[in-house]
Amino acid sequence: MCDNWGYEKLHKADEKRAIDEMKHAEKLIGRILFLDGTPIVSNLNKISIGATVEKQHKKDHAAESDAIASYNEGIKLAMEIGDNGTKELLDSILKDEEAHIDWIEAQIDQIEQMGIQNYLSDQRG
Ligand SMILES: [Fe+2]
Repeated sequence: MCDNWGYEKLHKADEKRAIDEMKHAEKLIGRILFLDGTPIVSNLNKISIGATVEKQHKKDHAAESDAIASYNEGIKLAMEIGDNGTKELLDSILKDEEAHIDWIEAQIDQIEQMGIQNYLSDQRG
């Protein structure tokens, strides 16, 4: 959507974040297979995309926040059962997710400080 609107800078940032998420999925699938599990990739969470850039940032913030909570729970469980390999994987993904939410919060702050029109003008590329 951002590409279609001509917000090239924002489009590139969103695309990079999406690629990070795909790499996370790949690593998690690899770990599940290593543990002789069966990854289930058909049960997807509901995808919620905002109709405006501001709404996109807010929905993405909520999704990243949920992901951070889930990874923290997973790390806690991995520690409880002594699975250090899984803990290390989840630690590395958690760091990426925290960087994602930090970036989104910066965008929300910028919109608040400079106004949506100035922000969007800066996102054209
Ligand atoms: Fe993320």
